[in-house]
Amino acid sequence: MSLLAIHGVNKRFGGLRALNDVNLSIKQGSVHAIIGPNGAGKSTLLNCLVGRIKPDEGRVDFDGRSLLGLEPQAINQAGVARVFQTPEIFPDLSVMENVMMPAFASKDGAFRIGLWRRVADRRDVEAEAEEILHDLNLWDQRDHHAGSMSRGDKRRLELAMCLVQHPRLLLLDEPTAGMSRADTNNTIDLLKKIAARGITKVIIEHDMHVVFSLADRVSVMAQGTVIAEGTPAEIKNDPRVQEAYLGGAHL
Ligand SMILES: Nc1ncnc2c1ncn2[C@@H]1O[C@H](COP(=O)(O)OP(=O)(O)O)[C@@H](O)[C@H]1O
Ligand SMILES: [Mg+2]
Repeated sequence: MSLLAIHGVNKRFGGLRALNDVNLSIKQGSVHAIIGPNGAGKSTLLNCLVGRIKPDEGRVDFDGRSLLGLEPQAINQAGVARVFQTPEIFPDLSVMENVMMPAFASKDGAFRIGLWRRVADRRDVEAEAEEILHDLNLWDQRDHHAGSMSRGDKRRLELAMCLVQHPRLLLLDEPTAGMSRADTNNTIDLLKKIAARGITKVIIEHDMHVVFSLADRVSVMAQGTVIAEGTPAEIKNDPRVQEAYLGGAHL
């Protein structure tokens, strides 16, 4: 069953066709990678999914319901969470407070003070935040100032902040960008670990090692359109992909 269906999405920026008739179907429970050269339109597509950019044409249906026209907060409340290319955290709060914060956000993004005040509810959130911090190897840093963490740790923190929202669909834009090989491998392990939570994932990724370690399905974008789709093995051997993606070099 498809959880997310994208039909005929177009987006122009002035004279530039950033998205050109994009069609994509994301199966419930899958890990779907979107790869492609710089400027292919991957981040623009993700921005359309989370309501940051309005497509000029097309449809985006999540669990049978159109997401178009919804504000980012409403899309988030519908069960779509996103890890941004640059981590968006609360730098002045502790790591633990950052993880708890999204659980207290209301539909319009306001802070749910009532929930915060009810001790039993707060304990539930705390208990879950603790479990997530353990899962993401952030427990030792729980009292640290989030703003002083390394970039890689901030990205893991952002992932933790997504998990506490219990998303049904998690969108990750280059989760290993700028990471060392060791941190990249750690992130792969963490993403595999959270796969057990059964969250459907869309991962934009340039690192083939990450794609082949995690994805069930791969879509390849080039010049604003999806040029190929298949299993990682099929994509790896597709000459059109090698041509578009690396100018003829091997993946
Ligand atoms: N807000 C914007 N205004 C104008 N052009 C944009 C904007 N966002 C992206 N673009 C352009 O759209 C194209 C696709 O960009 P992007 O979606 O960021 O590609 P990718 O994530 O695949 O590298 C690029 O040519 C980029 O310069
Ligand atoms: Mg991008």
